[in-house]
Amino acid sequence: MAESVTITDNRTGESIEIPIVNDGISAAEWKKLLGNIWFYDPAFTQTASTSSAITEIDGDNGILRYRGYPIEQLAEHSSYLEVAYLLLHGELPTKEQFAKWNHDVTYHTFIHENVRKRFMEGFHYDAHPMGMLVSAVAALSTFYLEAKNIHDEEVREKQIIRLIAKMPTLAACAHRFSVGQPFVYPDNSLDFPSNFLSMMWKVAEPRYDANPALAHALDVLFILHADHEQNCGTAAMRVAGSAHADPYSCTAAAAATLYGPRHGGANEAVIHMLTQIGDITNVDDFMKSVKEGRGRLQGFGHRVYKNYDPRAKIIKQIADEVFEITGKNPLLDIALRLEEVALADEYFVSRKLYPNVDFYSGLIYQAMGFPIEIFTVLFAIPRTAGWLAHWKELLEQDQKIARPRQLYIGPEVRDYVPLEQR
Ligand code: ACO
Repeated sequence: MAESVTITDNRTGESIEIPIVNDGISAAEWKKLLGNIWFYDPAFTQTASTSSAITEIDGDNGILRYRGYPIEQLAEHSSYLEVAYLLLHGELPTKEQFAKWNHDVTYHTFIHENVRKRFMEGFHYDAHPMGMLVSAVAALSTFYLEAKNIHDEEVREKQIIRLIAKMPTLAACAHRFSVGQPFVYPDNSLDFPSNFLSMMWKVAEPRYDANPALAHALDVLFILHADHEQNCGTAAMRVAGSAHADPYSCTAAAAATLYGPRHGGANEAVIHMLTQIGDITNVDDFMKSVKEGRGRLQGFGHRVYKNYDPRAKIIKQIADEVFEITGKNPLLDIALRLEEVALADEYFVSRKLYPNVDFYSGLIYQAMGFPIEIFTVLFAIPRTAGWLAHWKELLEQDQKIARPRQLYIGPEVRDYVPLEQR
C-alpha cells in the first residue's frame, strides 16, 4: 500500500500494515493487531471522533467553510437563518424552501407559558443567564415528549425548528428576568435578529424597531458563530446524541460546555481582562504576567487555528461599523494594543497564538448595550444550528454510543476496613 503505516508488535514479532485514509488511520484497523493497546488522548488532540460533511477548518491557513462555502462569502451575502438551513440540510435553500423555513422558525418563537412562569421566573434574582438557558433548554424536553422519537424524521425536524426558534426567546427572557423587566413576547412581523433585539430592549412602545445596521451586525455575528466542527460543545452534543438522548437534553449538554471560560465563556473573560488592565499604559505589565504564566491572554489561541482566526478578521470590520453608530468602546484601544504587542512578541509568535473569535466580539456586544453576563448566551443562540446539524448527521451515520477507554491509575485491589478499625 502506498499510503500506509506498518506497525510491529515487538512482543510477538507480528506486523500489520494499516492504510492511511484521509490523513488518518482507523481504530478498527488498529484493533486487529493491537486490540489491547489504547491511545491515551484525553483532550482528543490527535483523535478524530467522527467524519463530518458540515464544516471544514484549515487551521494552518486560517480557512473556515460551511458546507464548502467560505465564511467570508456567507458573512457578506447570507443571513443567519439561511446559514442555519445550509448547515442542517447541506445546500442553500431555494426561494420556496427559504420562505417555508423562515415561516416555520418565526412561528415557533413562542415558549410555553409554564417555561417562563415555572422555570425562568423560578430562578434566583441574580442567576447567571447562561445557567438559566442551559436549564431551560433541558426543561423543554419535558414539554415536547415526542422529541424522544429521534428516529422519526418529521419529529426530528420539528424539534430542530423549535430549538432554533426558541433560543432567542429564552435568551431574552433570561436577560429580562435578571434586570427585573417584564418578558417581551416575540413579534412575528420582525426578522430573526430584529425580533431578538425587540425581546431584549422593548419597553412601552407598540413595536420596537431595531437599528437595521445593528440588527445586521448581530446577524453576521450569528453567522460566524453558527458552527465550528468538533469543538468542545459539539463534541458534547455528539456524545449525548450517541446515547440517543432527545435533542433538548443534548443541546443543554452542549450549551453547558459553552458556558466554560475556555470555550464560549471567553468573550466574557476578555471584557473582564480588558477592564482589569484598565489603561493602555498597563498593557506591557499585563503581557509580562501572561508570559510568566500568571494567567492567559483571553481571546487568544485556539486548538485548531495556528493562524489568524478568519472570524476574528470579519468581526474586526463589523466592530468599526457598530462603533460608528454606538460610539467607540473605550476598551478597544487596550485590545488593539494587546493584539499589536502579542503579534510582535516571540512568546505568542512561536506558539502561533492569534486573536480568536472571542477577542473582539465582546467589545461589539458591550457597545450594543448587552450586559457581559449574556455574551455566552449570544454565542449559544446561533451555535444551536451547528449543534443540531451535527446531531442530525450523527443519527444519519448511525454512530455507536461514544464510550472512551481509560488508563486506570488507582490503587491495586485491597480489602475493605470497617469504620471502627480506621
Ligand atoms: N495566553 C497565553 N498563553 C497561551 C494562551 C493564551 N491565551 N493560549 C495558549 N497559550 C500557551 C500555553 O500556555 C502553552 O504554552 P507552553 O507550550 O509553554 O506550555 C501553549 O500556548 C499551547 O497552549 P495549550 O493550552 O496547550 O493549547 P490548547 O489547544 O490546549 O488551548 C485554548 C486552546 C483553550 C483556546 C487556549 O489557547 C486558551 O486558553 N485561550 C484563552 C481562552 C480563549 O480565548 N478561549 C476561546 C477559544 S475559541 C472558542 O472556544 C470559541
